[in-house]
Amino acid sequence: MRRVRYERSGGPEVLEVVAAEVPVAGPGELLVKVEAIGVTLSAIRRINGPQELRAEVAGEVVAVGDGVDDYAEGYRVVGLCADAYAEYVVLPADQASAIPDGASAVDAVALMRSGLVALGALDTAAPREGETALITAAAGGVGHLAVQLARVRGAGWVVAAVSDEAKAEFVAGLGADEVVTYDRLQAAKQADFGLDGVGGTGLGAAIGALAEGGRVVTYGTGGGLIDTEDLLAGGKTLSGFRIGRLAQRDPARYEDLRQQVWQFYASGLLHPVVHAEFALDDAAAAHAVIEQRANLGKVVLVP
Ligand SMILES: NC(=O)c1ccc[n+]([C@@H]2O[C@H](COP(=O)([O-])OP(=O)(O)OC[C@H]3O[C@@H](n4cnc5c(N)ncnc54)[C@H](OP(=O)(O)O)[C@@H]3O)[C@@H](O)[C@H]2O)c1
Repeated sequence: MRRVRYERSGGPEVLEVVAAEVPVAGPGELLVKVEAIGVTLSAIRRINGPQELRAEVAGEVVAVGDGVDDYAEGYRVVGLCADAYAEYVVLPADQASAIPDGASAVDAVALMRSGLVALGALDTAAPREGETALITAAAGGVGHLAVQLARVRGAGWVVAAVSDEAKAEFVAGLGADEVVTYDRLQAAKQADFGLDGVGGTGLGAAIGALAEGGRVVTYGTGGGLIDTEDLLAGGKTLSGFRIGRLAQRDPARYEDLRQQVWQFYASGLLHPVVHAEFALDDAAAAHAVIEQRANLGKVVLVP
């Protein structure tokens, strides 16, 4: 089979496709024939040494290891995988979840991690009916779902913020009432709550765009320092959200988020948008789209 690996840190150019043995499912594991792989900014940032490419994968179970009772050959599953950019992967059964009938593998990888981050971060902000929401990185894999979910949770006005005006039409089409670039954020309607996927100075700008007493949830791994003065002066609240921590700390809540995301999808309230599907051989091109901040929705690899 083919898999993508990298042996030195760098940009998309360090990714190479190599021949590899099909892995074997050990105890508690599933061997999955991969149909779709979700590409994320987090994975791209992790390329800082010879390590694995973690990503959400979806496909068909073709073998099960000892001790697996919940899955069998032929099941279609989605889950986070350590060495994900490959035609076949081994997925711990306890990290997998079934893909509902009628949902494609591509939609599964576009929805599962990104949708859970969007909904989990949104609920951390405890939105109330009619409030104004601010969503940064609004055209991204998480952000484009957050815009839609803010509506589902009752936002009365959604301000979507992006780095480039070229994304405005796409984000407006998702249901945003107002689209601004980051440099014009202060001119937008003041938000009661915000979800920030940028971090650093972007997070600072999001805090600045809140009404007095507003709250912002940061989920972006961009890092960086922020000036806390605006939190003090404006009586504003900053919280953080990370889906991996939630899954460890509160598995029942994690499962609840998962089910809600599938329900919103099934009822037509949540549409994952795929910017482009790339072949495994074009993984570098897929990474380049995200590094260039050009994606409108989710970037997906299809082996
Ligand atoms: N907390 C969690 O559990 C969790 C889980 C998954 C992902 N994340 C984080 O969520 C953020 C968004 O992830 P994603 O998977 O939705 O992103 P994505 O679709 O892979 O693309 C990245 C998005 O982030 C924005 N962005 C901000 N700074 C960027 C930069 N320096 N380089 C490239 N893009 C940048 C881009 O929009 P603009 O150009 O319009 O700003 C783009 O929409 C990332 O910071 C990621 O690490 C957090």
